[in-house]
Amino acid sequence: MTRNWKPNSWRDKPARHIPTYSNDEELSVAREKLSNFPPLVFAGECRNLLKQLEEVAKGRAFLLQGGDCAESFSDFHPNNIRDLFKVILQMAVVLTFGASCPVVKVGRIAGQFAKPRSQDTEIINNVELESYKGDIINGIDFDKTSRTPNPKRLIQAYNQSAATLNLLRAFAQGGFANLKQIHQWNLSFVEDSQSKKKFEEMANTIDECLTFMEACGINDQNVRQMKETDFYTSHEALLLPYEESLTRIDSTTGQWYDVSAHMLWVGDRTRQLDGAHIEFVRGIQNPIGLKVGPTTDIVELLKIIEVINPDNITGRISLICRMGADKITSLLPNIISQVKKDEKNVVWVCDPMHGNTVKASSGYKTRPLINIISEIEKFFKIHQNEGTYPGGIHLEMTGQDVTECIGGVQEITEDDLKSRYHTYCDPRLNASQSLEVAFLLSEFLKDDRIRLQQSSKK
Ligand code: PEP
Ligand code: CO
Repeated sequence: MTRNWKPNSWRDKPARHIPTYSNDEELSVAREKLSNFPPLVFAGECRNLLKQLEEVAKGRAFLLQGGDCAESFSDFHPNNIRDLFKVILQMAVVLTFGASCPVVKVGRIAGQFAKPRSQDTEIINNVELESYKGDIINGIDFDKTSRTPNPKRLIQAYNQSAATLNLLRAFAQGGFANLKQIHQWNLSFVEDSQSKKKFEEMANTIDECLTFMEACGINDQNVRQMKETDFYTSHEALLLPYEESLTRIDSTTGQWYDVSAHMLWVGDRTRQLDGAHIEFVRGIQNPIGLKVGPTTDIVELLKIIEVINPDNITGRISLICRMGADKITSLLPNIISQVKKDEKNVVWVCDPMHGNTVKASSGYKTRPLINIISEIEKFFKIHQNEGTYPGGIHLEMTGQDVTECIGGVQEITEDDLKSRYHTYCDPRLNASQSLEVAFLLSEFLKDDRIRLQQSSKK
């Protein structure tokens, strides 16, 4: 049990990006309700993910983490969940097949509602209101009622997460993820794209392999991995009153787990050594992610790692680096070498989204795919130079045919952004762009795995 820690000990620390609720009574009622609701995930599942992340840290698997920047109440629809799940399955199979590497699948889903915003308020036509902070806190409509933080939203977020998880579990274990269904994972609108063609070719080869294996007596009846998959959930542990209410003692180990998701991460804006968010996550036994942005102070980061993972458990901490394509080469090598020097066991993950956001002339926030790919490529190169393993990717993506990031085989331009710009917060890769990234990643990963195998033979 973590020393001097309780689910509410974060309350004694400075807490950034947590809203002030005008009605304390309503907040208490919501928190009381949440604390009596069933867990969304189980401690044993969190431990399974930890084990799989240990495999990632050791270079024997790859982490694929992706989903919305912000889930919303209004886009809650089974088809949206299904389509994201399909793209993640497609990407995972591209990586598994292309790079002969097991893939750990973690969605930014079933709880990814709260957003840290750079400005606390927003002014439109001389009216100043609280910024939109995610559907678990307030509404996106620009009026006073909608923008006022409302505790009832905590309950709605929990209910939506529960229903989302229920569907994800059915997809993962109910036959949909069976490798025999591989052709069904294609999304109809990813027509004519090169990626779709490449995927179909690969799927045909996999079909042949499955037929061959079947003839040898290996099939989905005797190998579980062929007919179902493990799919985990994650979100930013930002809204601590919500997370605290869902933190429980696991009866088999006597340890605390935050049962709102399998994995939680601390964002770049709330990662202070003496802050509330680090205090909260140090006591829960779920795998923890730490966003590592360009302003990261390496001395502080090492102390944070020590505080969260004093026993240096491999798989416990993932460093999700989000430097930007223009900064990664000058900033990441030092971070890697200091972490190595301190012998901290971490999973190295690349978030090529958050450091590459730009404003298009039309005013839309976008991310050029070319910069996203450039950051990924540099991330792999840097690890190659440092002799470390680039263990994962963290993407903001959707299974929908949106036009939010420019570039890619569909050649989305700044002018196209307005046509299907649906995100509530940051721009996401659409399904075609996500597949494109997966094919590129599989090439980088394949090279890297050959390098690791060769160096282990020396
Ligand atoms: C996010 O992941 O949506 C986010 C806000 O990231 P960061 O904390 O890295 O800015
Ligand atoms: Co984001």
